[in-house]
Amino acid sequence: MKGSFAFFMKGKSISMKNDINWYQNAIFYEVYVRAYADSNGDGHGDLRGLIQKLDYIKDLGVDCIWMLPIYESPLRDDGYDISDYYTIANVFGSVDDLRELLKKTHDRGMRLIMDLVVNHTSDQHPWFQAARKDRKSPYRDYYVWSDDDRKYQGTRIIFIDTEKSNWTWDGQAGQFYWHRFYASQPDLNFDNPKVQQEILDVMDYWLAMGVDGFRVDAVPYLFEREGTNCENLPETHQYLKRMRQFVDHKYPDCIMLCEANQWPEDVRPYFGEGDEFHMGFHFPLMPRIYMALGKEDVTPLFQILKRTPDIPNNCQWCIFLRNHDELTLEMVTEEERQWMWDFYAAQPGTRLNLGIRRRLAPLLGNNQKKIELAYSLLFTLPGSPIIYYGDEIGMGDNIELFDRNGLRTPMQWDNSPNAGFSHADSSRLYAPVINDERFKPQQVNVEDQRQTPESLYNHIKHMLAVRKQHAGLGSSLLEWIDTGNNAIAAYWRIRGEERFLICNNLSETTLTFKIEMPTALTKGMDLLSGKDIDMPSSHELCLNLASHAFVWLKIN
Ligand code: NOJ
Repeated sequence: MKGSFAFFMKGKSISMKNDINWYQNAIFYEVYVRAYADSNGDGHGDLRGLIQKLDYIKDLGVDCIWMLPIYESPLRDDGYDISDYYTIANVFGSVDDLRELLKKTHDRGMRLIMDLVVNHTSDQHPWFQAARKDRKSPYRDYYVWSDDDRKYQGTRIIFIDTEKSNWTWDGQAGQFYWHRFYASQPDLNFDNPKVQQEILDVMDYWLAMGVDGFRVDAVPYLFEREGTNCENLPETHQYLKRMRQFVDHKYPDCIMLCEANQWPEDVRPYFGEGDEFHMGFHFPLMPRIYMALGKEDVTPLFQILKRTPDIPNNCQWCIFLRNHDELTLEMVTEEERQWMWDFYAAQPGTRLNLGIRRRLAPLLGNNQKKIELAYSLLFTLPGSPIIYYGDEIGMGDNIELFDRNGLRTPMQWDNSPNAGFSHADSSRLYAPVINDERFKPQQVNVEDQRQTPESLYNHIKHMLAVRKQHAGLGSSLLEWIDTGNNAIAAYWRIRGEERFLICNNLSETTLTFKIEMPTALTKGMDLLSGKDIDMPSSHELCLNLASHAFVWLKIN
């Protein structure tokens, strides 16, 4: 082991140090720092605010926090437009605050990963400013330029509601520049070895500080090649493997989590032979959880997981119900997309790009049983789950706000002014607190839900605690069970001698069904109630589940 290893692991407990594969069974929690807690009363959440809430996060059962970008930025895309990779934006705090956050996170046995935005910078980044001013600047070649806007015609536009082309004319530069997202986010030129090195240096800087890894943004788009769709190119994989070698060499317990909104077979290469990403988001699974719930039919889940290739032993999927973006419908067929829009986005203003800009609770009609059922799927299907801040209490959204901002409103801690998020005058908040009748802080807040045993928060916390006691619920074989009724999502999770039987009733009605047991099994335990159950002497177990109910059984 490298001499530097002990140094970089400083601040982490012994058990954390020994657990190199920690991410394979971890509970992740996504925090938008600006929305979480405002410590200095300026109306914006900040790192010190997040520090104050670490006990809450720990208590919920979280193992690793993923923090949205906090770097210097004009915030035209909420920090995904970085103007200085080495500075923390003033609104969020300072590097010292981050050091303290890391220490206190590690003290609590949790980890913290940051966002790494590699595909593009802000147009305010000094590299781009220098590049556009002078063709001879060494930074000119940090970006992708062209005299016309006809190159790479086979490339789709991602932000179709705001951008008409992936090329934008820059008067100062006298050329077009390439961008896969907003025009204010010029793409970096990864054909330039200096750009490749710059990104490794950025990683080194934050990992050396104690950050536990990165969620790497928009990775399919790093390189451009004529005649392709400019996604998932071999050159991209080659570079990502270099990143991984760097991490493994210097920071062996740190992870790289891949954001590639692609079909499973196209995400699979991002795991390489266990030498590229440690983890990858499973984008196609997410909308199918909503399809299964809406259609009361397990088929979409079954089909997408059947289509999902095996991944190397040292890798893991990261699965989610919602995040800070619109519920993306890129990885569905046109027919499925239309169905999702008709079913979940009938209200004008809820569609965005190829998706739906709503949070979990409004999507599921604020029906607690249905939300818990969605979490039951999330916590028992293969992968490490991630929870989007506020979705543990069923927060609402605000579609009056621009683009995706309505999904990023202040966290609702209690029903005091500004929902306990900030002491600032409400007119100074970065975004208004939700005031919809069903979701306003008087109805939905952490404090009330913590005191109410049957609240969504307490149910989720309990489910997480159970899931954490049984590693086999997360990483183990998945075997589907045909109950003869598609409204039942039933499966085995099998790990060595351990067997878990998971049954979810996707329908509005009570259902009775039978499960064939592989052998005559003698003992079972209902994990969520903690009660033993008698197994039948025959090979058949008869179960009865109320509407949207679910059971997690451990069978011996
Ligand atoms: C994906 C991020 O999740 C999204 O919020 C952002 O706008 C784009 N990448 C561009 O960085």
